[in-house]
Amino acid sequence: MLKMHHLSKVYRTHLIETHALRDFSIHVKNGEFVAVTGPSGSGKTTFLNIAGLLEEFSGGEYFLDGVDVRGMNDAARSRLRNEKIGFIFQGFNLIPDLNLFDNVDVPLRYRGFNAAERRRRIEQALSRVGLSARMKHYPSELSGGQQQRVAIARALAGSPKILLADEPTGNLDTQMARGVMQLLEELHAEGATIIMVTHDPELAARAQRNVHVIDGQVVDIQAEPRLRSVGAPPLQSAQA
Ligand SMILES: Nc1ncnc2c1ncn2[C@@H]1O[C@H](COP(=O)(O)OP(=O)(O)O)[C@@H](O)[C@H]1O
Ligand SMILES: [Mg+2]
Repeated sequence: MLKMHHLSKVYRTHLIETHALRDFSIHVKNGEFVAVTGPSGSGKTTFLNIAGLLEEFSGGEYFLDGVDVRGMNDAARSRLRNEKIGFIFQGFNLIPDLNLFDNVDVPLRYRGFNAAERRRRIEQALSRVGLSARMKHYPSELSGGQQQRVAIARALAGSPKILLADEPTGNLDTQMARGVMQLLEELHAEGATIIMVTHDPELAARAQRNVHVIDGQVVDIQAEPRLRSVGAPPLQSAQA
């Protein structure tokens, strides 16, 4: 699925070198819901951007669905991204001058679907997030939680294999954050693979697996907290 091995990313600006990721290894399987946590500046966004083929990396290996991403040219990279990846950002990133229908249409146009197929996908995606009745509305007419739902519909409309969410609830109040998280959980239950960066420990705890990043490295992978909490025996059985 998504497999990074000893990946590194160095940003070079004038005199400064920042090692945003170092020896970063992760393996995300089909259908997993992974929460990525870690302090600000630890490399979480860099990881998502590389995972989503928005940025190149400096060293190591990355395989997406078995495809070796290293050294791919821009056109091939964009094609793979459009086909496999859906992005959800903290700031929603909707286009203010376009109504909801046209916002969701933007990435579909790059995919070369015909108008009827795009309409079908847009209507289905907006219906999936509960906003069918608002198709002709503009982002500014919606609450933050609703805007994020549109962004999720836009990410979903292309039927991506993987949804990448960078602090998707970061700009929302608690109640709206819960609503967005619930939607992500439903999509996961329907088979989506989700990688979500979050600062919210309550939301992270609801994912299947937590990956903690510090200083550009994965430091701790907690396995299946939810399964443990529903009556499985403790990992370390009582010792004499
Ligand atoms: N475009 C860039 N140019 C230079 N440095 C960057 C750039 N993007 C991120 N960095 C640096 O890389 C490190 C990791 O950043 P980031 O991945 O955004 O962290 P996080 O999302 O965990 O807050 C930080 O030190 C940041 O300043
Ligand atoms: Mg970030």
